[in-house]
Amino acid sequence: MKIIKTGSYEELSARTADLLAAQITLKPDCLLGLATGSSPIGTYQELVRRHDAGQLDFSRVRTVNLDEYCGLGGDDDQSYRYFMNMHLFSKVNIALEHTQVPNGKAADMEAECSRYDTLLESCGQPDIQLLGIGHDGHIAFNEPADSFPVGTHIVDLEEETVAANARFFKNADDVPKKAITMGIRNIMLAKKIVLIACDEQKRDIVNKALFGPVTPRVPASILQLHADLTVVLHNVL
Ligand code: F6R
Repeated sequence: MKIIKTGSYEELSARTADLLAAQITLKPDCLLGLATGSSPIGTYQELVRRHDAGQLDFSRVRTVNLDEYCGLGGDDDQSYRYFMNMHLFSKVNIALEHTQVPNGKAADMEAECSRYDTLLESCGQPDIQLLGIGHDGHIAFNEPADSFPVGTHIVDLEEETVAANARFFKNADDVPKKAITMGIRNIMLAKKIVLIACDEQKRDIVNKALFGPVTPRVPASILQLHADLTVVLHNVL
């Protein structure tokens, strides 16, 4: 594991963008695994800035996202598809058909899980996977559990996660209670993983995840077993 401690959120975003940009430069048709949430917003802004400066070409890049709220379609401004379009996809020269986010509004969500797993398999291993971490140690929406979930599945979000996500919604009651998420195997298959955290309140959980026992009670702790993990932190260690 490589740990990069940064002095500001801007620096964290720039260092994380460096890692993604290097991947795109080295392999223009790379597969990026992407995350939503507040932590990566600065990283996406930095990638857009570099694209605008003529330093990054997304024309052959493909992406797969980790998760989506159940019940929200891509045109809902709280959906993760909308988030990705707004923060990154609509601002760079990526082809929308090269971007994949689970469909939170599929008529049959179990069938959507199978479809997404099949799609991930056909895409091959992500060259790099960007991750945030939840206050309870979740990665994607793999919440603390008795075992590590394998493939794409539907989860009931923990109260703590619903409460943390309420900041993005007008009414706390509007926060979806279920999500569709990649499983731990899907995530661990990436060739390289970059975990970012910048919230002081995540100090304890980041310590447990990086240095505590590997346990499904702290889903991010599995990352200790990944062969190529970089952790970019601000205000956390
Ligand atoms: C989002 C995701 C989540 C977030 C986590 C942290 O796609 O997979 O695991 O990364 O909830 O969210 P923020 O960055 O908002 O603290």
